[in-house]
Amino acid sequence: MTQKKSKLNRRDFISSSAKMALAAVSLPLLKSSPALAKPAGRKLKVALVGTGIRGSGTWGKALIKNYSDVLEMVGLCDINPVRMEYAKGYMGAECPTYTDFEKMIEETSPDTVVVTTTDCFHAKYICQAMKMGCDVITEKPMATDEKMAQEILDTERKTGKKLIVTFNYRFSPETVKIKEILMSREIGEITSVDFNYYLDVYHGASYFRRWHGLKQYSGSLFVHKATHHFDLMNWWLSAEPVEVYAHGELRKYGHNNAFRSVRCKDCPHKEKCEFFWDITTNEHLMNLYVKAESADGYIRDSCVFRKKINIWDTMTAQVQYHNRVMMSYSLNAFMPYEGYCVGFNGTKGRLDARIYHSQPWKVTNLADFRITHSFKTSKTFNLTSGGGGHWGADRIMQDRIFREPGPDPLGQAADSRHGALSILIGIAARRSIEQERPFKIEELVKM
Ligand SMILES: NC(=O)c1ccc[n+]([C@@H]2O[C@H](COP(=O)([O-])OP(=O)(O)OC[C@H]3O[C@@H](n4cnc5c(N)ncnc54)[C@H](O)[C@@H]3O)[C@@H](O)[C@H]2O)c1
Repeated sequence: MTQKKSKLNRRDFISSSAKMALAAVSLPLLKSSPALAKPAGRKLKVALVGTGIRGSGTWGKALIKNYSDVLEMVGLCDINPVRMEYAKGYMGAECPTYTDFEKMIEETSPDTVVVTTTDCFHAKYICQAMKMGCDVITEKPMATDEKMAQEILDTERKTGKKLIVTFNYRFSPETVKIKEILMSREIGEITSVDFNYYLDVYHGASYFRRWHGLKQYSGSLFVHKATHHFDLMNWWLSAEPVEVYAHGELRKYGHNNAFRSVRCKDCPHKEKCEFFWDITTNEHLMNLYVKAESADGYIRDSCVFRKKINIWDTMTAQVQYHNRVMMSYSLNAFMPYEGYCVGFNGTKGRLDARIYHSQPWKVTNLADFRITHSFKTSKTFNLTSGGGGHWGADRIMQDRIFREPGPDPLGQAADSRHGALSILIGIAARRSIEQERPFKIEELVKM
C-alpha cells in the first residue's frame, strides 16, 4: 500500500483544528432552518422536476394524496416526456408537463420547486429556481461536487430564497433515539465514533445497475449514499467536519467478473448470474423505465459488471470534527445483509446500536441498543419500525415541511449548510483518494 502524504504536519493540523474549533463556536453551528414561507389565503403552489421513482412516488403520488388540502401541484418537468406522461397518471396529477424547466416556472409561477432529478443536475435546478423567485426542496445529495455546492450557497445568499434538503433519515425511529441519548449526555462527551454501513447484494447491487454507477452522475456512493450517513453523524454530534482521509476500491462489480452483458433483460448469462434481476416482473418499473427507453436510451437494468462502472463498492474514511471527535466510517456494497452498526465512545461510557434493514434470518426489531456505563452496568433495549416509507421517516418529514412544523427540539430540519457539510465529507473523501492525501473541508468551499 502506498503511504499517503499530507502537506500538513501533525502539529500544524492540531493547531489548525483547534482554531477551527474556536471559530466554529461562533458559527451558526448546525442551526435548524425555519419552515417554508407559506402563502396566506391560498394553497402552496408546487412544481416538480425529475419524475422518476422518487419524484413520482414520495414527492408526487404521496404529496397529492396526503397534502392536497394545503398544496397544489402546478407543473411537472423531466427530460423524458414518455416517463413523465406515465408518472403524471401514476401520481394522479392534473397539471401541465414540460421538458423546459424555465418555461414551466414562467408559466406556472410555483412558490416552491421540488428537485428529484439525477443527482448531478440538482444544483442547476436549485439555482435556477431560486433565481426565478422560488423556494426549493431538494432530494439528497444537494450537489455532487464542490463548485456546485459553492454556487448553491452563493445563490441562496444572493436571492434570499430558502433551500430545504430532505434528509429523511433524521426522522427514522432509531436515529432519533440515538440523538436523544447523545443529547442526554448519559455517556458523557463523545470522543470518537465507529460507523459501519452495509448495503446488501440486492439493494447494494441496484446502485451498480443504474446511473449511480457512474461518478459523473452520482458523485460516487461516497456522495450519493453516504451523504445520508455523514448528515446523520454531523447532526448526531452537532459538529462540523474539518478533515477527511479516505480509501476506495471496486472489488466486486464492474470489471471484476469473468462475464458481462449490456442488461439483465436480454442477458445470455441469466441462468448462471447471481445478480440477474428481472425487471419484466414489475409492471410499474416497466412503465416508468423500459417503455420510456425510446426517449432517452436510459437502461434501468444495466449489467452490474459493465466495464464503464467507475464508482467504488468498498470504502473507508477517517473524519476529524471541529470539536476533536474522530469518526471511523466504512461503506460496503455487496454484503449478505443490510443495515448498520454505530458505536459512540464517550467519557462516561459507550452506546452501541445495530440496525437491521434486511437479512436472510428472521429479525423482529428495527434496532438493538446497548448502553454501557464505565465501571458500572450495561443495559439493552430495542425499537420496532414506524412503518411506511423509510421506516415511517418520509411521512413525518413531509408533515413537518407542509403542515405547521411546530417546535424542533432535536434540530431535525435541514438546510443548505447541512446539505453542503454532508456532501463535502464525501467529496473530500473522493479528492483524498484521487490525490492520496488527507483533504480539508475548507479547501473545497467557502461557507
Ligand atoms: N432520500 C431518499 O431516501 C431517496 C430515495 C431514493 C432517491 N432519492 C433521490 O431522488 C433523486 C431521484 O432518484 P430516483 O431513484 O427517482 O432516480 P430515477 O432515475 O428514477 O429518476 C430521475 C429522473 O430525473 C430525470 N432527469 C435526469 N436528468 C434530468 C435533467 N437534466 N432534467 C430534468 N430531469 C432529468 C430522469 O429522466 C428521471 O425521470 C436522486 O437524487 C436520489 O438521490 C432519495
